Amino acid sequence: MIERTLVLLKPDAVQRALVGEVLSRFERTGFKIIGLKMCYAAKETAGQHYADDEQWLRSVGEKTKKSYEAKGVQVSEDPLEIGKRIRSQLMDFLMLSPIVAVCVEGHGVISKVRTMVGATAPSSAMPGTIRGDFAFDSYGLADKSGRPIQNLIHASDSRESAEREIKIWFKDEELHPYQRVDEALLYRKVE
Ligand code: CDP
Ligand code: MG
Repeated sequence: MIERTLVLLKPDAVQRALVGEVLSRFERTGFKIIGLKMCYAAKETAGQHYADDEQWLRSVGEKTKKSYEAKGVQVSEDPLEIGKRIRSQLMDFLMLSPIVAVCVEGHGVISKVRTMVGATAPSSAMPGTIRGDFAFDSYGLADKSGRPIQNLIHASDSRESAEREIKIWFKDEELHPYQRVDEALLYRKVE
């Protein structure tokens, strides 16, 4: 089924001039870029994107705790509190300098793009993934500096989040469906 997903090239990707590299990975896969813009994230938009949603805040906190515990470090802080702290750091980071918002369309694009992006912490993201190839930041390094993990890119993690996030960054008229030439080959009917 054709899906749409929301990708953000965060300030570190733009500042490190990785915009073209990342976009070309999606293009070469055959996915279709149907929305693209550079902008500064307003505080309200950053707050909507990293929503003040207890379930998400807890999940970010839990993931962080697990990652520390895997390294033998016990964390006593409540996951919800960790999530709140990270949300505030993330919002500030997103507003630091221009970002690029992208809407990508294709069959199974949501999960494939997540696979191409790689694990949250670039330190453990697989080579071949965007985070694994272009960054090495870690939970530890980020926490020591009181900043969020700089992992270059955001990608929607489900149909529901994709739908919610695309609406935050793009108006309907900013999305541009069109045909790629390779669709004739991909979707041809063989008699
Ligand atoms: O981006 P992803 O879906 O992989 O991770 P997330 O759990 O949705 O967290 C959103 C973002 O929060 C991550 O991409 C990191 O930039 C940031 N984060 C962080 O800075 N420190 C953590 N301990 C956890 C997440
Ligand atoms: Mg996420």
